[in-house]
Amino acid sequence: MASKLRYPLPWRIKPCSPTNRSLLFDRSHLHLLLLLLLASLVLSSASQHAHEFCSIGDDSGCGSSSTKLLIKGGTVVNAHHKEVADVYVEDGIIASIGPNIVQVGDEVNIIDATGKYVMPGGIDPHTHLEMDFMETATIDDFFTGQAAALAGGTTMHIDFVIPINGDLSAGFESYVSKAKKSVMDYGFHMAITKWDEAVSKDMEVMVKEHGINSFKFFMAYKGALMINDELLLHGLERCKSLGALAMVHAENGDAVAEGQKRMIDLGITGPEGHALSRPPILEAEATARAIRLAGFVNTPLYVVHVMSIDAMEEIAKAKKSGQRVIGEPVVSGLVLDDSWLWHPDFTTAAKYVMSPPIRKAGHGEVLKAALSAGILQLVGTDHCTFNSTQKALGFDDFRKIPNGVNGIEERMHLIWDTMVETGLISVTDYVRITSTECARIFNIYPQKGAILEGSDADLIILNPNASFRVTSASHHSRSDTNVYEGRTGKGKVEVTISRGRVVWEDDTLKVTPGLGRYIKMKPFSYLFDGIEKADAAYLASLSAPVQRSRASS
Ligand code: URP
Ligand code: ZN
Ligand code: ZN
Repeated sequence: MASKLRYPLPWRIKPCSPTNRSLLFDRSHLHLLLLLLLASLVLSSASQHAHEFCSIGDDSGCGSSSTKLLIKGGTVVNAHHKEVADVYVEDGIIASIGPNIVQVGDEVNIIDATGKYVMPGGIDPHTHLEMDFMETATIDDFFTGQAAALAGGTTMHIDFVIPINGDLSAGFESYVSKAKKSVMDYGFHMAITKWDEAVSKDMEVMVKEHGINSFKFFMAYKGALMINDELLLHGLERCKSLGALAMVHAENGDAVAEGQKRMIDLGITGPEGHALSRPPILEAEATARAIRLAGFVNTPLYVVHVMSIDAMEEIAKAKKSGQRVIGEPVVSGLVLDDSWLWHPDFTTAAKYVMSPPIRKAGHGEVLKAALSAGILQLVGTDHCTFNSTQKALGFDDFRKIPNGVNGIEERMHLIWDTMVETGLISVTDYVRITSTECARIFNIYPQKGAILEGSDADLIILNPNASFRVTSASHHSRSDTNVYEGRTGKGKVEVTISRGRVVWEDDTLKVTPGLGRYIKMKPFSYLFDGIEKADAAYLASLSAPVQRSRASS
């Protein structure tokens, strides 16, 4: 019988049975094993949890051995339709959906979903796992971050590759290596941090060979990731020619630097200085500027982490004029407010530092309304975690607090509780904003983001009558803090299925490092349809060049 080797955190490795030993020394898994052992050593000091994970390459039954799965009697929800039906899965793919599917053979794993919702697993469009940033690195890597995601019902995420000294290929290779311990499917966006011929050429390589179809431009983080308008224009043009989606972190980085100096001069050095130094007006200005430059180039634009009413209104205005602009709020901006930054305890206040800042009470409600109205289209997390020791790097100066909050594990629950439970959106809308829209925008629909025959079997079963509670003691992130600490709500992801494997059930994770697959994303999504016609119409409208002769009449 195949063995079940498990690693109970805090990462003590149980003695291996003889069968396990042969598994451990299987050459094909040796490199992955070394990686996990290394990760285990690093984690042993940080983690206090007692979750169980399967061993590398354990294909035996960890995360459900059955390649056949029948989910009976649930309400199957897609972005535009829901019905009570059974879902039959074989070899990681949805094989059929319909009433009363009959079990064939014995080896089918049957799950009763009566009274529950069966939905596409969440897709998080915005994460930063193991990212070098602000003199440190995010504490969740492709193992712990993804384990957390699966425990919260997210089955795919798209992470941002950061070039190394501006070099895209070097950045890509480093992320390929970081992602080797993946336990679920993932894709990459790529940041552009400098401009020259090599970068322009490498963008094409990324799109055509490596399946990256989106590039992010940081308009803030002066002296680090920030780019200027000239670079943004070059980048927008290049994105357009490649059919890649341009993304922006929209804050006026020069003005932010001035705002920071202003706070320091006033003696405001704590976390509240972070919010005060970069008000919504700076987010709105950069959002408007990026939108206008994308309009000038006539290419679609994706604005990441829309945190304020002010920025959202710029997006609404552009959409009303027919421009293709996607706005992505993140869960922290929807459910939190900035009052935490004034908390007298530094550790508590610092954990809420992210950029653009979490705004005053009221912004989140309006952003949620914009989501329900379709002005904003999908929800991310910007999962970018630092523990309290890392946050303390900025104890004397808020400019040094690493920017970022958690959310990859909490997003699905918090959106359900604050938007579906409250009646703001329907269950089908929930699927649309947490999964389907992301798959469409990044051109992986209907492989992902749908419960259709032939789609990947990335599924969740959510019990609307159960409840959830968030605590740093029970979460799966490696961080010792959680910005949603103590939150409770209705609706619980009871089962997560990743490509046909049951990886989360009975509050237990069963994941296997190395089984996560890189999902290549093709360029020219639906957002590019008709762009060339608009360009032709523009050229035709110019009435130029005017033919003139030198001789005067
Ligand atoms: O504070 C944030 N958002 N950290 C992650 C980097 C970014 O700007 O997305
Ligand atoms: Zn950003
Ligand atoms: Zn981010």
